[in-house]
Amino acid sequence: MDTLKNDKNLSSPARRIGFTTALGTLFATLGSAIGLGNIWKFPYLTGANGGAAFILVYIISTLLVGLPVMIAEIMLGRSARADAINTLRKLSPSPRQPWWLIGAGGALAAFLIMAFYSEVAGWVLAYIFKAASGSILSTDPSVTSQAFQSLVTNPWQALLWQWITLALVAVILIRGVSRGIEATTKRLIPLLFALLILVDIRSLTLPGASQGLAFLFTPDFSRLTAASVLTAMGLAFFKLSIGMGTMITYGSYYGEEENIPSNTARVMLSDLVVSILAGLAIFPAVFAFGFKPEAGPSLLFITIPAVFSAMPLGNIFMVLFFILAAIAATGAMLSLVEVPVAFLHEQVGLSRRNATLLTTLLLALVGATAALSNSTLAHWTFFGKNLFDLYDFITSNLLMPIGGFFVAIFAGWVWGTGKIREALSNHSRLSNRWVVNAFIFVLRYITPLLVLIILLRGLGLLPA
Ligand code: PFF
Repeated sequence: MDTLKNDKNLSSPARRIGFTTALGTLFATLGSAIGLGNIWKFPYLTGANGGAAFILVYIISTLLVGLPVMIAEIMLGRSARADAINTLRKLSPSPRQPWWLIGAGGALAAFLIMAFYSEVAGWVLAYIFKAASGSILSTDPSVTSQAFQSLVTNPWQALLWQWITLALVAVILIRGVSRGIEATTKRLIPLLFALLILVDIRSLTLPGASQGLAFLFTPDFSRLTAASVLTAMGLAFFKLSIGMGTMITYGSYYGEEENIPSNTARVMLSDLVVSILAGLAIFPAVFAFGFKPEAGPSLLFITIPAVFSAMPLGNIFMVLFFILAAIAATGAMLSLVEVPVAFLHEQVGLSRRNATLLTTLLLALVGATAALSNSTLAHWTFFGKNLFDLYDFITSNLLMPIGGFFVAIFAGWVWGTGKIREALSNHSRLSNRWVVNAFIFVLRYITPLLVLIILLRGLGLLPA
């Protein structure tokens, strides 16, 4: 009985502590969007898929799929003021309709993403020290490749760096939504921009940088395939942290006076700018020293150290580069772990501290299976994938698109346009009618269709 009472109190809007300032809200959301997706996935996918034409498709996908789902998630979260699972339960027209499953699938996706994301973030952390000690300072990619292999195939090193990463995230989250997430991202995001611009200046002033610029900004549509179009759409999901309850949870911390469509558009644009700035830091340097942009996921850990080693003052810039990658990863991880933490805190009734500790412990266990997937557990393969790749595949190709599809259907068709208008105009206090109308149209008719294509492609039911 007591627990029940407690439960109600904790999730009642009046007692919930959310983001406290407009700037803090913007930076926390931006902190979630900006991450290894910008510094690692965006550059290697752009490199592997032919450059500018891929970026163009990515921008279109962001506008037609990413932005509408992101607005919908934040709107639903703020309207319900609850964690992801209970947001859907509260807003569902009938308690018997299982819409809460969207939230549950989202929480599972966030957990699984974190299992492998924390591993990559652990590598980034390790690379700050490796760069500082000079142990990855070599212009020979076979040497940097050897250094990377020895990190990922050493079970203790891989585990250690992942667990350090998880502990850092836990320390911030225990402090709470405002004092933890908001305060941290408010400090880190400006620092991230400053470091990125510094590295950009270094890369762009190298002789031969223009080839990298041409690669980024001159579209060659002949290199675009159906598969790369779908990859771009998947990236839009990952980038904006949607389809997995993150933005629903963050939306529940939004103040009533926040202008959701304009805030979201700002986040999307800034996130895009960071991706382009990361591209500008990487590709001019890659081309200037005669490396290939198509390295794939190892671009960050094998090509980049070799590239930085080749430039004047490269060791300093390499340290700065991995620090900024670690900063980017932090804001994203805070939002991923917050999804289960909010649920355990508000619905199961655990204190915030215990909810964070329990989630971190479970992540250390499940994450370990990803961390060890290149060593001790390398023989655990499913459908030809090791566990690291399997978690990436399940989340990117199944859970995220399914979550995004049903969020669009729920918000656009079930919750209803009347409530959307109320919520997004802040009960008519904002005069943004045409923006809301355009949003409703895209969310109802275009987004679900496009997401369905990504999903079927991900399941292999649609030829690439
Ligand atoms: N948007 C983050 C990035 O680009 O790295 C990754 C991410 C964060 C994905 C949060 C999903 C999420 F819920």
